[in-house]
Amino acid sequence: MSDAHILEVRDLRKSFPVSTGAFTHSSGRGVAVDSVSFSLERGETLGIVGESGCGKTTLARMLLRLIEPDSGEMRFRGQDWLGAHGGELRALRRRIQMVFQDPIASLNARMRVGTIVGEPLAIHEPQLSRAERRARVAAMLEAVGLGGDALGRYPHEFSGGQRQRIGIARALILRPELVVADEPVSALDVSVGAQILELLDRLRRELSLTLILISHSLPVVAQLATRVAVMQAGRFVEFGPAEQVLQAPQNAYTQALIAAVPEIPA
Ligand SMILES: Nc1ncnc2c1ncn2[C@@H]1O[C@H](COP(=O)(O)OP(=O)(O)OP(=O)(O)O)[C@@H](O)[C@H]1O
Ligand SMILES: [Mg+2]
Repeated sequence: MSDAHILEVRDLRKSFPVSTGAFTHSSGRGVAVDSVSFSLERGETLGIVGESGCGKTTLARMLLRLIEPDSGEMRFRGQDWLGAHGGELRALRRRIQMVFQDPIASLNARMRVGTIVGEPLAIHEPQLSRAERRARVAAMLEAVGLGGDALGRYPHEFSGGQRQRIGIARALILRPELVVADEPVSALDVSVGAQILELLDRLRRELSLTLILISHSLPVVAQLATRVAVMQAGRFVEFGPAEQVLQAPQNAYTQALIAAVPEIPA
């Protein structure tokens, strides 16, 4: 294992119970994520692409430890991330954050934006004074392109793209090292989505983030990814540097995905 690796994942697997017949009462388990292994270096953007139901969100939730895998290993900066518990788990948790697909559903509609974005700070850095917390929130809102007046307003007063900026500000307020964005632009118009992707890329550079960008859309992934994983039926069927996967795909499924898109930004 090299120090450059921020995340190493080995043989991650997750299955869910599925009922196979209403009358037979028989049930089995469907495998949502199967034998997924990869390593990611600091500062990279891993794009994970695959059709609906292939296991992208299940994988993302395991990477965040929102759900536990059936088996496998995960190391975050060399530490046993899957085995972490107690104080170590809490300390690691704040270093890995998620941006969600649906900013409306993921933001508490009754809270003002300042409270929404400041909440992780209130939990993880309770020693900060109100003024210090407010200053951190205001700076983060500015970094995502929202004015200071956003602090006192409510999520419904913003457009979809602005709401996703609020979601990004909340994810970044604790200064995480790894950010997993699960379909961050699929609820947005293409042009608004492109601006959000540009924002994520700029923040990655400015804040030295490593990014995992999950999308069913190959052009979305191609816009930012330095590495691409193609997922099919729970498995990584292709994984490599973005140029290699996009220009010279080895796998038939990847070739079909690329053939379906007229122009991939090189
Ligand atoms: N909590 C759960 N209980 C049972 N089955 C689940 C659960 N979560 C996911 N699954 C199943 O696991 C598989 C993968 O689902 P997942 O949500 O990870 O796919 P996805 O690639 O994110 O799809 P989409 O592009 O539609 O978001 C699907 O068959 C889904 O039905
Ligand atoms: Mg999903």
